[in-house]
Amino acid sequence: MLDLVNDKVQDESRQGEAYAPFQLDPNQYQKRFYIESYGCQMNFADSEIVASILNQEGFGATRNLEEADLILINTCSIREKAELTVRKRLTEFRKLKRNKKGVLVGVLGCMAERLKAQLLEEEKLVDMVVGPDAYRALPGLIMEAETGQKAVNVLLSRDETYADISPVRLDSNGVSAYVSIMRGCNNMCSFCVVPFTRGRERSRDMNSIVSECRDLFEKGFREVTLLGQNVDSYYYTDEGNNAVNFAQLLNTVAGISPLLRVRFSTSHPKDITDEVLYVMAAHHNICKYIHLPVQSGSNRVLQLMNRTYTREWYKARVESIWKILPDCGISADIIAGFCTETEEDHQQTLEIMEFSKYDYSYMFFYSERPGTLAQRRFKDDVPEEVKKRRLAEIVQVQNRLSFESNLKDIGTTCEVLIEGDSRKTDKDWKGRNSRNKVVVFPKLDHDLKKGDYVTVKISECTQGTLLGHIVK
Ligand code: SAH
Ligand code: SF4
Ligand code: F3S
Repeated sequence: MLDLVNDKVQDESRQGEAYAPFQLDPNQYQKRFYIESYGCQMNFADSEIVASILNQEGFGATRNLEEADLILINTCSIREKAELTVRKRLTEFRKLKRNKKGVLVGVLGCMAERLKAQLLEEEKLVDMVVGPDAYRALPGLIMEAETGQKAVNVLLSRDETYADISPVRLDSNGVSAYVSIMRGCNNMCSFCVVPFTRGRERSRDMNSIVSECRDLFEKGFREVTLLGQNVDSYYYTDEGNNAVNFAQLLNTVAGISPLLRVRFSTSHPKDITDEVLYVMAAHHNICKYIHLPVQSGSNRVLQLMNRTYTREWYKARVESIWKILPDCGISADIIAGFCTETEEDHQQTLEIMEFSKYDYSYMFFYSERPGTLAQRRFKDDVPEEVKKRRLAEIVQVQNRLSFESNLKDIGTTCEVLIEGDSRKTDKDWKGRNSRNKVVVFPKLDHDLKKGDYVTVKISECTQGTLLGHIVK
């Protein structure tokens, strides 16, 4: 999916892209909003909730910054770099604001939650600061800001899931969509800011998830990705006290149609159950791909990180995946240079990568975040050049593993869901197979379109892509 360069990551990979609904009548709205999203898929999903709330208020989306009456930036705090990117963008918005009177600038998301009203002091031309659980309050906050007051709402909620809000799909390919199934996180990984910016974990009503997925299918979508920081701890109890866990939810969503692919992210190694793996095995349309962040291969470091599993536990989960789902792809998140990490710890990370044969990894060097357990308890004592060197070694191992995994696919056939033209030419289609590998193949004379399934025989590969031709 992504070309990886050092600190480039899953959650920052779409940074800087601006999204606007494509299906709206431009004359329907008196005012325009522009929204830019950073961070994880959940933030992108939240921007679609925000778009829906703003549409109700008479704001239509625009991709053109100059045209906007309201400029929103949905932010990420996961690493320092993510916040710096947002700060830089805010200075650019400042210039725009000077030239056009009455334009409002709002900061949404995790940075808003982390810095709260302090952001207003630091970034003078910001008018609104709105945390991830306060988007329903946006209309009131906009009204307040329009009168010249600064507006802040960073209250975290124990039950907000925006279950009843139907997201407005932003810049969608019309084939794949994210569906948020839970919010917040109750884990306390010592390096991580998410529990502070997103609050307590809560699960969304299963019925609203299933109806959103069904609705997407009826609109022509062919793939949903169920999102949560820790999907395996999904647990919803309805009014009748009936409880649903993640395996049951997955089973129900997969039952909507065999033509609707189902993916999910993120699984936590301590929580992923065999029950989930068996549900995956039972449904052809649940993609055989699991994102299983390892973070480190050293037990000592894992303990400092408060990940609550050991390397032995992690390897046993990987073996269960292979046993129950022999063709399942696995990817990971890895952090290089966490507090006190030694060369030996680092070697164990490389070793667990070799063991797990990841198709792909999102790799970072440790970035200390204010307020986290690690920042309060441990010294960020691995020098930057050591962090970077270790990260480069991790990237090198991963590049080789990705290539080896792709080489194995040469000569095999796989089912591909067509997502659109390939990046290089409109003579080729691009899609993904169940294992989440990108597959590119010539369109030739076949009468196919986005959202169709095809069988492709793989004949060549690069480190990031499989190349082949249609056989069916
Ligand atoms: N909930 C997911 C991850 C969310 S954040 C999970 O538990 O796996 C995505 C990734 O960012 C994490 O898996 C971790 O690898 C990385 N990350 C989080 N905090 C970080 C920090 N302070 N420095 C570097 N990387 C970090
Ligand atoms: Fe952060 Fe850990 Fe929660 Fe993931 S599980 S969001 S890494 S605290
Ligand atoms: Fe970033 Fe917040 Fe997601 S910190 S990774 S946008 S939950």
